[in-house]
Parts: sequence; structure tokens; C-alpha cells
Amino acid sequence: MQIHRYEKAFLGISVVLLIGFMGALFYSAFGMGIMLPTDEGQIDPAAVRTTPPFDSPGVRETAPGKYEVVMIGQAWAFVPNEVRVPAGAEVTFVGTSTDVLHGFGIEGTRVNMMLVPGQISRLTYTFAQPGEHLIICHEFCGLGHHVMYGKVIVE
Ligand code: CUA
Repeated sequence: MQIHRYEKAFLGISVVLLIGFMGALFYSAFGMGIMLPTDEGQIDPAAVRTTPPFDSPGVRETAPGKYEVVMIGQAWAFVPNEVRVPAGAEVTFVGTSTDVLHGFGIEGTRVNMMLVPGQISRLTYTFAQPGEHLIICHEFCGLGHHVMYGKVIVE
């Protein structure tokens, strides 16, 4: 059987691309720790404000060097709007939404999750350096989407 050399070249390119994409996938999953969300828990979106831990949003120390940031996304703000965490500490963000789908991304980090009504999202991150990071809603959530942001201050 004769394979045309162009055909051979295209076959070769597809194999190289496949290997490249697989490599990128493995690197993002195991090198950078980017994973699909897991089922963290469910919550009644209408009762978020009275369901722990969302009845008292904010930062709390759960163990030495470990912090939990409980945050609610709602149209069109993050509650609380500003949090302070120490540099080098293990910070777990726990969030949900009271109304529609919101995004939760922290500028300059790999923190990126969705705040889904009825679902609890959880993600752990360590801020190595002190500084300020914007929290942005990256999912279009209505008229005020562009003013929905918050701030993480790393001290
Ligand atoms: Cu909330 Cu966009």
C-alpha cells in the first residue's frame, strides 16, 4: 500500500498534536493542580443566610496556619466584599450563590470557581506573597455583573 507523503505528514502532525494536548492536560491537572469541581455539598438557595457556615460569612482560623473564607455571591456583590488573610497560610474558600450563577476568580492566582445556586463550592489556595487581589465575577449574571467584585488582602 502506498501512502502519499502529504498524507503521511498530516498523520504525523495529528499524532504530535495529540501528544501535545495530552501533555498539556496532564501538566494542568498534576503540575498546576487544576481539577474538575467535586460535589462539595448542597444547600437551599433561599436559606443560605440561615444555613451554616453561610449564616456568618467571613474569615475564620480553623487551625494554626489554616483559614476558611466563607463567601456568598449575590446579584451583584460578594459578601463579604473584602477579606484579609495572612501570607503563607492555607486558605479555603467556601462559597455559594443566593440567586443566579456567579463566577469567583481571584486575579493573579489559579483560584477560579463557580458559585452555583443550590451548590457549595470549595477551593484551597496559599497566597505566597503579601498584596492585594481583586475577586471578580466572571460569569455574566445580569445588569450589575460588571460591578460585582471584591478584594483579598494578603498581609
Ligand atoms: Cu455575578 Cu457576574
